[in-house]
Amino acid sequence: MSTDALDWQGLVDGIARDLAADVAAGAGEVARYIPALASVDPRRFGLAVATADGRVFATGDAGMRFSIQSISKVLTLALALRHAGDALWARVGREPSGTRFNSLVQLEFEHGIPRNPFINAGALVVTDVILEVLEDAKRTVLDLARALAGAPDLAYDAAVAEGERATGHRNRAMAWLMKDLGNLRHDPERVLDAYFHHCALAMDCRELARAGLVLAREGRGPDGGAVLSPAQSKHVNALMLTCGTYDAAGDFAYRVGLPAKSGVGGGILAVLPRHFSACVWAPGLDPAGNSLLGARALAMLSARSGLSLF
Ligand code: DON
Repeated sequence: MSTDALDWQGLVDGIARDLAADVAAGAGEVARYIPALASVDPRRFGLAVATADGRVFATGDAGMRFSIQSISKVLTLALALRHAGDALWARVGREPSGTRFNSLVQLEFEHGIPRNPFINAGALVVTDVILEVLEDAKRTVLDLARALAGAPDLAYDAAVAEGERATGHRNRAMAWLMKDLGNLRHDPERVLDAYFHHCALAMDCRELARAGLVLAREGRGPDGGAVLSPAQSKHVNALMLTCGTYDAAGDFAYRVGLPAKSGVGGGILAVLPRHFSACVWAPGLDPAGNSLLGARALAMLSARSGLSLF
C-alpha cells in the first residue's frame, strides 16, 4: 500500500482506541531502578508517525516528553558513524548478543569487544569514539537530537542522569573491564558520564518520530542535507532490526517487521525506510525490557497499514 493513500490519523487513533483498555490497566512493568522512572504513570500512551514527506500524525500522550533511554543509542551510533566512519567496527560488533543488554559475561569472553552498538557495552564504546572525534559527547548528541527533531529546547533530565549515575554499577563494571582490555581510550568515568546523560535525554513521540525520519530518508536531515550517507542509514536500520530490541529482536522482527530501537523508559522508535518513522510510548515493559503495549501498537501499525519490510 502507498503511504499517501493511507488515513494515517485514523490509523493511529484506531490503535489508541483498541489498546485503551490495556492502557487503562497499566499493562507491563515500569522500570524501577531509579525513582525518576519508577514514578512515571504506567497508563500513559502516545503514538506518532512521521511520513517521509514530513507530515506528522499523533495520538494520546504523543506530546509528553519521556526518558528516551536506549533509543539514544541510535543517535550516538549515527554520530559515531558520521564522524569516525567504519573505523568504529574494529571496536564493536554487528551481531545480536543473545544476552541481556547489560550482560558482563560475554564481554570478557570476547575480549572487551561488545557484540553490537545497542547493548550497553557497545554504546559505551560508541561514546568513547565520539569523545575521540568530537570531544564533547554530551553537547554533540544533544545538538543532533535538537536538529533532527526540530526542537531546540530538548534537554537532559538531570534527575534521570543522576539516578543513572547513582545506580550504574554494572555499566561502570563494563566500562572499567573494557578499559582493562584496551577498548576504551578515555577515562571510563568521563565516558560513563556522557552515556548516563544520553540515556537521560527527554523527548516526546512527535519529536522522536521526526528525528527518526533521517533513517527513512536515506540519511537526509530535515533540511535535505546529508547527516548520514545512504549506506550508513542502511547500516543503522539493519542493526536496529537485528539488535534494537534487546534479546527479543527476533520475536520483534517476526511480529512487527520494522527496524526499531527500544528504551526502558517505554519508548520504541521504528522506521520503514523510504516510508515513515514512528514512535510509541507506553511505560509498562515486558520481561525483555521492551514496551509491552508499544510493541503491540507497532505490530498493529504494520499489520493495519500493510507496511513493513516484508
Ligand atoms: O544503562 C542502563 O542500564 C539504563 N540506562 C538502561 C538503558 C536502556 O534503555 C536499555 N539499554 N540497552
